[in-house]
Amino acid sequence: MTRPPSSILSRLVRTPAVRALLIQCGAAPLTLVLVYLLASLRLSWLYPVSYLTVAVVHGLVAAAITWRAGLAPWWRLIELLFPLAVLAALALQLPSWIFLLVFLVLLGWYWSTFRTQVPYFPSSPGVWDAVRQQLPEPRAGGGRLRVIDIGSGLGGFVLYLARVRPDVDVVGIELAPLPWLTSWLRARLSGSRAQFLRGDYEQLDFGQFDLVFAYLSPAAMGQLWRKAQAEMCPGSNLISYEFDICGKPPDLVIHATNDTTPLYKWYF
Ligand SMILES: C[S@@+](CC[C@H](N)C(=O)[O-])C[C@H]1O[C@@H](n2cnc3c(N)ncnc32)[C@H](O)[C@@H]1O
Repeated sequence: MTRPPSSILSRLVRTPAVRALLIQCGAAPLTLVLVYLLASLRLSWLYPVSYLTVAVVHGLVAAAITWRAGLAPWWRLIELLFPLAVLAALALQLPSWIFLLVFLVLLGWYWSTFRTQVPYFPSSPGVWDAVRQQLPEPRAGGGRLRVIDIGSGLGGFVLYLARVRPDVDVVGIELAPLPWLTSWLRARLSGSRAQFLRGDYEQLDFGQFDLVFAYLSPAAMGQLWRKAQAEMCPGSNLISYEFDICGKPPDLVIHATNDTTPLYKWYF
């Protein structure tokens, strides 16, 4: 079912990155008024009204609004420094295509992170092996096990499992185009049978999988649990690395070798 446009818009406006952007834009007219007042005080011997003054005032106004709006503390620093960073970038007088290129690379890499609040950061081979140990032995004469990594990044876990468990069908799904393309190429170039889908795991039916592996972020866990509860079949498992689910204690906590960060497992 598609969501009504108003709910998509209100969800978008509630995301911290979009709120931060709106605050930065909203601070501009206030900054103009303040700078105008400062200029009219004729105190230029104390502080010259320059682009630097404007950037400092803009940063301070944006940081103050961010504080009032109750965004996480690191956003105040980002809002404070953003106008100064723009000024510094302009001072470098770089050709404009560089900004476009950097923008496109960041867009390809992070894509919807502003909405999902799940950026890319990889898990380690020790974690992949700990997840592998949670899989049952190959089914004698039975159907093949199906495993998915939701948010598969560069594909490390999926490629590993496809290599060490030939009896398992392993799929990765990734929203951001550049990490997905990298994982897809890695599979093609290494001749792996791992499958990589480009898309949103929210649109996928978890009922097809015996094991769902997630390494996401605290912001995603509540919705992930609701989806898993609605769709996962009896006998299947959900494993999350690092992030647990508020109000839903795991059935098992696993520690990978040499890793203090736990894996959480829920049985369905
Ligand atoms: C923390 S990384 C984990 C990467 C990989 N699973 C690993 O263990 O190395 C999370 C990944 O999930 C992706 N992601 C976030 N939300 C997603 C969604 N709704 N559907 C598909 N991928 C998503 C992000 O783009 C990011 O690459």
